[in-house]
Amino acid sequence: MLICALFCSALQAGGKMFTERVAQLGAWGVLLLWATCVSAANPPWPCPKVCECRQATLQVNCSGKYLTAVPEGFSRDSKCLDLSHNRLKTLSRRQFYGLTKLVELDLSDNSVSMIEVEAFQGLQNLRILKIKRNRLKIIPVGVFAGLSNLRYLDMSENEILVFLDYAFREMVNLLQLNAGENDLVFISQRAFVGLQNLQELNMDRSNLTSIPTEALSQLQSLTRLCLQRLSISMLPNNAFRRLQHLRSLKIMHWPSLQTLSSNTLTGLNLTSLVITNCNLTTIPYATLRHLAYLRYLDLSFNPITSIQGNMLSDLLRLQELHLSGGNLLRIEPGAFRGLVHFRLLNVSSNQLTSLEESAFHSVGNLQILRLDGNPLACDCRLLWVMRRRVRLNFDSHQPTCSTPLIVRKRKFQDFTEAELPGIFMCRQARILDRKSQDAQIQEGATILFDCKADGYPSPYVTWLSTQQTLLTSSGRIRVLVNGSLEVRYAQVQDSGTYMCLATNAAGNDSIFVKLQVQGIPRNRTMSSGEVWSETPYSPSDNSSTQGTNPYPFDAKTLVIATTMGFLSFLSSVAICFVFMFVWSQSQGQIKHTATIDFVPRSSVGGGGVGGDTGRFTMKLI
Ligand SMILES: *[C@@H]1O[C@H](CO)[C@@H](O)[C@H](O)[C@H]1NC(C)=O
Ligand SMILES: *[C@@H]1O[C@H](CO)[C@@H](O)[C@H](O)[C@H]1NC(C)=O
Ligand SMILES: *[C@@H]1O[C@H](CO)[C@@H](O)[C@H](O)[C@H]1NC(C)=O
Ligand SMILES: *[C@@H]1O[C@H](CO)[C@@H](O)[C@H](O)[C@H]1NC(C)=O
Ligand SMILES: *[C@@H]1O[C@H](CO)[C@@H](O)[C@H](O)[C@H]1NC(C)=O
Ligand SMILES: *[C@@H]1O[C@H](CO)[C@@H](O)[C@H](O)[C@H]1NC(C)=O
Ligand SMILES: *[C@@H]1O[C@H](CO)[C@@H](O)[C@H](O)[C@H]1NC(C)=O
Ligand SMILES: *[C@@H]1O[C@H](CO)[C@@H](O)[C@H](O)[C@H]1NC(C)=O
Ligand SMILES: *[C@@H]1O[C@H](CO)[C@@H](O)[C@H](O)[C@H]1NC(C)=O
Repeated sequence: MLICALFCSALQAGGKMFTERVAQLGAWGVLLLWATCVSAANPPWPCPKVCECRQATLQVNCSGKYLTAVPEGFSRDSKCLDLSHNRLKTLSRRQFYGLTKLVELDLSDNSVSMIEVEAFQGLQNLRILKIKRNRLKIIPVGVFAGLSNLRYLDMSENEILVFLDYAFREMVNLLQLNAGENDLVFISQRAFVGLQNLQELNMDRSNLTSIPTEALSQLQSLTRLCLQRLSISMLPNNAFRRLQHLRSLKIMHWPSLQTLSSNTLTGLNLTSLVITNCNLTTIPYATLRHLAYLRYLDLSFNPITSIQGNMLSDLLRLQELHLSGGNLLRIEPGAFRGLVHFRLLNVSSNQLTSLEESAFHSVGNLQILRLDGNPLACDCRLLWVMRRRVRLNFDSHQPTCSTPLIVRKRKFQDFTEAELPGIFMCRQARILDRKSQDAQIQEGATILFDCKADGYPSPYVTWLSTQQTLLTSSGRIRVLVNGSLEVRYAQVQDSGTYMCLATNAAGNDSIFVKLQVQGIPRNRTMSSGEVWSETPYSPSDNSSTQGTNPYPFDAKTLVIATTMGFLSFLSSVAICFVFMFVWSQSQGQIKHTATIDFVPRSSVGGGGVGGDTGRFTMKLI
C-alpha cells in the first residue's frame, strides 16, 4: 500500500515537486492519496492503445505520444492520468466524464488554448491538476465546474491576460494555486471569490501594474503569497489588507520597487518576509515595526547602505536576517538590540569593513554568520569573531581580511591563537595638535578650528556645540570633511566652549576650544540681513542690540509694533494727527482738515494680528 502511494506520486514528471508540495500542505495529503490508491482494481483493465497502463498502480501514462486529441477507453478506476508532452489543442465539454476516481491529471506541455466550459465535469475526486506550459489566454467562467475537491492547480507559463470575476468559484477546496509566468495585466475584484480555503498563491512574473488588493482580500485563508517579477515602484498603504492569516510574504525581483509606505503591511502578522532583488535603499523600519512575530527577514540584493541602531528592536522574535549582496557600509552599534532570539546574520557580499560586537544583543546566541565578501579590516573590532571562529558557523564561507596588508586575503580559520594579539589590535584615537585655539573675534567674522586625529582604525571626529548638541556638516556652524569646525558670520550667541571628540573602537580623545564673539554697534537696520536669516531668532542676544541702536525703527521694533494690536496703533496715529491739526490751527497759516479712512480687508479685532490684515488711508485736505 505504501509502495502504491509512493509510486503514485513519484510517477509524474513533476513528481518530486509534488511530494514537496504535499509535505508543505500537511501529511494528510499523502494519506488521502494513499486512501484512494488502496481501493484496488478489478481484473479487466482497459487501456488506450497508445498509452502505457499499470494496473497495479492504476496509472495511465500517455506522455509524449504526439496525441492531438484525448484518447478514449480509459479504465474508470484510473487514478493518475499523464497526458503531458502531447499536441492537445482543445479540451471539450465533459472531456473526462466518467473518470470519477481520477486523482491526478497532467496536461502540461501541450498547446491547449481553449478549454470549454465544464471540461472537467465529473472529476469529483480530482486533487491535482496541472496545465503548465500551454497556450491558454483566457479562463472562461465555468471551466473548473465540478472540481470541488481539487487541492492543487498549476496553470503557470501560459498566456493568460486577465482573471475574470468568479473564474475559480467552484474550487472551494483548492489549497494551492500557481498562476505564475502569465501575461496577467488585470485581476478582477471578484476573481478569487470562492477560494476561501486557498493557502498558497504564487504569481511569478506578471504584467500587473498595481497590487490587486481587492481581489486578494477574498483569500481569507491565505498563508503564503509570492509575488515575483513585477514592475511596481511603490507599495501603497494597506496593500494586503484582510489577509490576517498570511504568514509568509515574498516580494522578489521588483527592480523598480523603491518605497514601502509605513502602513503597507498593516493588518498582517507575518513570520517570514522576503523582499529581495528590489531597489530599496534603506530598511523600511516603520513598515516592519508591528511584525512582532517575524522570525525570518530577507532583504538581500537591495542597495541598502546601513543597518541603524535600535531600529529593529520591535521585531522581538526575529531569528534570521539576510541582507546579502547589498551596499552595506556600516552596521551601527545596537542594530540588533532587543533581539534575544537572533541566531543568524547573513551579510555576505557587502561593503562592510567591520562588524562590532556591540551591534548584537548578545553574541552568545549567534550561531551562523556570513561575513564573507566584505572588505574587512582585521583589527580589534573583529576580535570577537576571531575568538569564536571555531564555534561560529560560517556556512563554509570563511571571512577573509582585507586590511592590514600583511594579512590581506587570509581566512579567519588560518590564524593561530598566538597571532591574534599582534594583528587584531587597535590604537586609541588621539587628537594630534593640542595647542590652544581659543579665539576672540568680532561679530560677523568667520573662524576655523582644527581637529586632526590619529588612531587605528581611523577615528571618527565629531564636534559638539556650546549646548552639547552634535554639529553637522551643514549650516552656519559646520564640520568640514577634514574634521575642522567652521563658524561663519559669527554672532554673539555663538560664544562658548566647543568640544571636538575623536573616537574609535579603542577609545576616544577630546579637545575644547573657547570662542568669544564681540558685538559691534549697528548703525543701519537691515545692514546684516544675511546674518539675520542664517540663524533662528534667539532671545539671548538682547544685550547686543538693546540700548546701542540710535534709531527707533529697527527690525525688532517693527515686529513689536505690528504685533501690539492694530487698534492701539491706530489710536496713537489718530492722536498724532489731532496734535498736528491743533498745531496747524494755532499757527493760523494753513487751514486743513484730516480724515482717516479705515478699510478693513478681513475680520478686525483679533489681538496680535499683523498690520496687513487692515489697511488705512489718510487724506490731508
Ligand atoms: C511516462 O512516459 C514517458 C514517455 O514514455 C516517460 O518519459 C515517463 O518517464 C513516464 N512516466 C513514468 C512515471 O513512468
Ligand atoms: C508583459 O511583459 C513582458 C515583459 O516585460 C512583455 O514581453 C509582454 O509583451 C507583456 N505582455 C503584455 C500583454 O503586455
Ligand atoms: C533604483 O533607484 C535609483 C535611485 O535610488 C534609480 O536611479 C534607479 O533608476 C532605480 N532603478 C530602477 C530599475 O528603477
Ligand atoms: C500571529 O502569529 C503568531 C504565529 O503564527 C500567533 O501565535 C499569534 O497568535 C498571531 N497573532 C495575532 C494577533 O494574530
Ligand atoms: C546567505 O545569502 C546568500 C544570498 O542570498 C545565500 O545564497 C546563502 O544561502 C545565505 N546563507 C545562509 C546561511 O542562509
Ligand atoms: C580643512 O579644510 C579647510 C577648507 O577646506 C582648510 O581651510 C583647512 O586648512 C583644513 N584644515 C586642516 C587642518 O587641514
Ligand atoms: C570616552 O572614553 C571614556 C573612557 O575611556 C568613556 O568613559 C567615555 O564614555 C567615552 N566618551 C564617549 C563619548 O565615547
Ligand atoms: C557706524 O557709525 C560709526 C560712528 O558712529 C561710523 O564710524 C561707522 O562707519 C558707521 N558704520 C556704518 C556701517 O554705517
Ligand atoms: C537677556 O534677557 C533674558 C530674559 O529676557 C535675561 O535672563 C538675560 O539676563 C538677558 N541677557 C543680558 C545679557 O542682558
